[in-house]
Amino acid sequence: MRIDILSLFPEMFQGPFSESIVKRALQKGLAEIFIHNIRNFSTDKHHRVDDYQFGGGAGMVMMPEPVVAAIESLTSERKYDEIVFMTPDGEVFEQKTANHLSLSENLMIICGHYKGLDERVRQHFITKEISIGDYVLSGGELAACVVTDAIIRLIPGTLNDETSALSDSFQDGLLSAPVYTRPAEFRGWKVPEVLLSGHEKNIFEWRQQQSIERTKKRRPDLLNEDDF
Ligand code: ADE
Repeated sequence: MRIDILSLFPEMFQGPFSESIVKRALQKGLAEIFIHNIRNFSTDKHHRVDDYQFGGGAGMVMMPEPVVAAIESLTSERKYDEIVFMTPDGEVFEQKTANHLSLSENLMIICGHYKGLDERVRQHFITKEISIGDYVLSGGELAACVVTDAIIRLIPGTLNDETSALSDSFQDGLLSAPVYTRPAEFRGWKVPEVLLSGHEKNIFEWRQQQSIERTKKRRPDLLNEDDF
């Protein structure tokens, strides 16, 4: 998979993509990430990328020209499965969207800044608008890191057995069961007996029950009425 990220602050991506699972996927050649500085596509002599909003109001708006020039330079090279815009008024990002996007060959992710992106670019070039939650970040960069990480870990070959995505929270619509490691007793607190029993069926049922209980308590919105 190839992911192209368009941003006004490309330096913000240095850390998140050079550690852990994303780093491993990049090293294994399972994914490629290219960061593009939108400012480099400005033809303005001061390399301006934002301007006042028509109609007045606080906050600058990202100008259409540099963003569209960046998009078109990439779309002239290859076809993109989705051109995503990170914005707090997009659809809220969920595991099912990550699953869907992880099947892409080429993805483009555009990070918004300031008051937003000129609406005409959104209407004519963007195919998907994603928010990572009901709060406002300073820009789309951190949100793009979240989305990229969630997608890349799903590419087959990225995770090994120990980190398998199948038992992740949300993957089956439930939160994960609690996990324990050695020692079996820590400061007098014991690991649930069933996990030490070696009895696979009982362990499976215990985990299932714990997942349901945890989901009921913390995220009842994820359960159907029949699950109660
Ligand atoms: N840009 C600013 N806030 C955001 C959010 N919550 N999700 C995605 N992009 C954003």
